[in-house]
Amino acid sequence: MSALPESKNMDRVRVDEASRLKLQDSLRSAAEAMETPNDTMLRLFNGALEVPMIKAGCDIGLFKTLVASQTPMTTAEIANNTKADPALLARILRYLAATRFITETGKDQFGANLSTQSLADPAIEGSLYYIFTISIPAYLALPEFLRQTSFQTPPGTKCAWQQSVKTDMDFFPYYKQYPEQLSYFQKLMSVPRDGEWFDVVSFAEEAANVSSDRALFVDIGGSIGHQSKRLRLKYPTLPGRVIVQDLPESVNVAPPAPGVEFMAYDFFTPQPVHGARFYYMRTVLHDWDEENSIKILKNTAAAMGADSQLLIDEMALPNKGVHWWSTCLDLHMYTMLNALERTVDQWHELLAKADLKIVEIRTYASVMNNAIIVVERK
Ligand SMILES: C[S@@+](CC[C@H](N)C(=O)[O-])C[C@H]1O[C@@H](n2cnc3c(N)ncnc32)[C@H](O)[C@@H]1O
Repeated sequence: MSALPESKNMDRVRVDEASRLKLQDSLRSAAEAMETPNDTMLRLFNGALEVPMIKAGCDIGLFKTLVASQTPMTTAEIANNTKADPALLARILRYLAATRFITETGKDQFGANLSTQSLADPAIEGSLYYIFTISIPAYLALPEFLRQTSFQTPPGTKCAWQQSVKTDMDFFPYYKQYPEQLSYFQKLMSVPRDGEWFDVVSFAEEAANVSSDRALFVDIGGSIGHQSKRLRLKYPTLPGRVIVQDLPESVNVAPPAPGVEFMAYDFFTPQPVHGARFYYMRTVLHDWDEENSIKILKNTAAAMGADSQLLIDEMALPNKGVHWWSTCLDLHMYTMLNALERTVDQWHELLAKADLKIVEIRTYASVMNNAIIVVERK
């Protein structure tokens, strides 16, 4: 993922997902156990400033500059590079060092740390722009939306995000008009998450009988093809076609990739590729309420042959003990799209309504509950 020179990469503590996240939560709980009420208020106060200040740092290329430098830089050097007022820049650097996004290495001297490296990564930077430009205004509109709806889930796609941008349009058609903002979203989608979905699908065996002209893998709502490209890179000799389907504004800007076809397709219309071995949907259905999800699923089900399987790559949440990030993403989906992250029970109910059935749930990230839900026709 990193776009940084190898020599500059610092060592991250490498532990498995479960230990890493458990330890992080324990340390955060321990820090919070020591908070006074004022400390709690200050933590929230600062939380409101962090994203805007990091956005400002990205805007002047601060994190990339620090990471590119072989040695710590003085405030004057950074000011010279960024053309910022040195006195104001000193205050910003002091803040970012105090909040550990950069490191203060001496008086008026700063260097990169692991967080700086992350923020210099184009995919993380793009995600940050998404949070700042698109999510935060929608979060600010959320309490009023909840008040107006009396804390209900209205049917359809009406949501707080629409109120934040003053539109009746749905999210994806709206951002079609704003390619730069759509690109932030695509960067967010490119950030690798915990676990590796390839690990729970034995492609080499399951694709063995697929003829070269048959569709092996149809990546529905596949954006600019991140996962299909990774699939081809991992298994360059797999027979069959790999097809990425998405709206024209996404597939038309997808960089070409060997062995990957791009197809403009609206998943509310009949699926044109019939009898593929695998249809794949990664974080697509969490964008939609039940009614719309059933429409998408029925269009897929109608194209599935006897040995076709639909692989849904999403969180399948337990009924209790959900990790904070999954709960955050769930409410993010509510805010942005009036959608949700689903529990295992909700997945069973939804798929049954589209005449499909779950044959297996293969979890590949045990804390985040990222899973491949293997689905067949009833
Ligand atoms: C949350 S993104 C997931 C992208 C990709 N599967 C991934 O995980 O990186 C949802 C995708 O659905 C696409 N999408 C939205 N409405 C669509 C429609 N009506 N037909 C096809 N794709 C659509 C969006 O353009 C977007 O790329």
